[in-house]
Amino acid sequence: MRLDKWITTQVFISRKDLKKKLRTTPAIVNGVPVHDPGFQIQQTDEIIFEGKRLGGSQEVYYLFHKPKGVVCATTDNVSDTVFSIVPQTPKKDLFTIGRLDKDTEGLLLITNDGSFSHAMLSPKRHVAKTYYLKTKKEIPAEAVEQFSKGVDIGDEKDTLPAKLEILEDGHSALLTITEGRFHQVKRMMEKAGAPLFYLKRISMGDFVLEDELPIGEYRTLREDELELVKKYKGDTL
Ligand code: URA
Repeated sequence: MRLDKWITTQVFISRKDLKKKLRTTPAIVNGVPVHDPGFQIQQTDEIIFEGKRLGGSQEVYYLFHKPKGVVCATTDNVSDTVFSIVPQTPKKDLFTIGRLDKDTEGLLLITNDGSFSHAMLSPKRHVAKTYYLKTKKEIPAEAVEQFSKGVDIGDEKDTLPAKLEILEDGHSALLTITEGRFHQVKRMMEKAGAPLFYLKRISMGDFVLEDELPIGEYRTLREDELELVKKYKGDTL
């Protein structure tokens, strides 16, 4: 793998800025200073950048703007997977925190940190997930109250209370749920009599998909978001 590609999987810096930086601050590869961003590195190389040792054992966190048509799986015979866009770490241990359906767009967190994933997905924590959705039929106003009480979508238990905010056009809404049941939003909207034709996740807990991150692109978490990671992992439940 190229040196610059590897460093950007480990450090929050763009490839462009990294190229500039390497001109003055070389990476140290197995003790030797390297300025060339295209330098080919091996999995076993020791790489030090700005005084920090980078390595596969380090935890990595990405926020990905998942496009439609991409599946949250390691391999798939038919469709592109998230990992054909977000490169695996050399140790190949990245996974998605929960899943989005093939047709759903939006925020997907990707990491190799099992305890962070557990903190985000644990059913006890009720981490809120907000979706923007569009429907062909008008969304009935009664759905707001129904969802706030919990609805029967064919599972053993009704859903937990959810917040539905119908937008001005009457055919789109923001829906916040605190569970992660299979096809949950799809099934809730079917139950409300307004089946989905577009679904996008815009936030998960305190992690928000910003407008600036183009669809199909990903970035490493910012410093303030890494603090949130610590917070979620530290919360005891
Ligand atoms: N609910 C759904 O129905 N689909 C998703 O992708 C996520 C939540």
